[in-house]
Amino acid sequence: MVDMSEKVISDYNGYDYKKIFWEDADREYEDQADRMAIRKLLPKRMEKFADIGGGYGRLANEYLKRARKVYIFDYSKTELKQAKEIYGDKVETKAGDIYKLPFKDNELDGLMMIRVTHHLKDMEKAISELYRVLKPGGVAVIEVANKRTLPKMVRFAVGKSKVNPFDKKVANYKEISADGFYNYHPKYVEDIFEKVGFERERVLSVSNFRSRMLKKIFKTNNLVKMENTAQQILAPIRFAPSIYYKLRKPEK
Ligand SMILES: C[S@@+](CC[C@H](N)C(=O)[O-])C[C@H]1O[C@@H](n2cnc3c(N)ncnc32)[C@H](O)[C@@H]1O
Repeated sequence: MVDMSEKVISDYNGYDYKKIFWEDADREYEDQADRMAIRKLLPKRMEKFADIGGGYGRLANEYLKRARKVYIFDYSKTELKQAKEIYGDKVETKAGDIYKLPFKDNELDGLMMIRVTHHLKDMEKAISELYRVLKPGGVAVIEVANKRTLPKMVRFAVGKSKVNPFDKKVANYKEISADGFYNYHPKYVEDIFEKVGFERERVLSVSNFRSRMLKKIFKTNNLVKMENTAQQILAPIRFAPSIYYKLRKPEK
């Protein structure tokens, strides 16, 4: 029985995320941008790896060849059922809540958590759980929904949004989803990573050109080429709506 803590705020049970969000929408560029970043950040060889909030395993082909044992963890049984249908015995699915991960202390060599932070109300608690289940020396690749982007700055400047992108406080965009939809200031999450004990090894700015207009003008394949260079160049200013972090739990 999955313990749905009060902190679980977005339920994907019964929602066809694969079809509605990815297959029926024009998101080839975003998908490619995620994959590109993961290839740059994930270790080449791992024993035990978990995709946290991994959904139906959209990104599984990026880690299946790198790890001997792969878990896809999510609380949506709809997503996990799809993952099993697609990947069979190549993955073990586990259901639960990120705030209480069903892994032992120091169990995993690697993990990633992509496109999940916008559902997390208590970032520090979630990051502490990720830290707990990683072995010393283990790597976490975490994507963070960035509140300090150029479009959000413009919307704030012209009065279209009341959310101040420069304020370190967590932004909760209730109007986007009735459940809540959180965005984070990079400095806010980076302080949490440090407080929890992670060492930051690399940062990438990901999905830099996420815009319907840019997709129309440049076409997806050209944007993907530009994205590859932009991920590193724009990382120091944390430009994109997705910021990727490669974090390491220090060796004792
Ligand atoms: C936007 S989807 C991302 C799925 C996958 N990582 C990807 O990039 O395609 C967010 C996923 O996080 C899961 N999720 C959200 N909050 C969670 C929580 N507290 N515990 C476990 N899973 C959670 C949802 O069920 C959903 O599958």
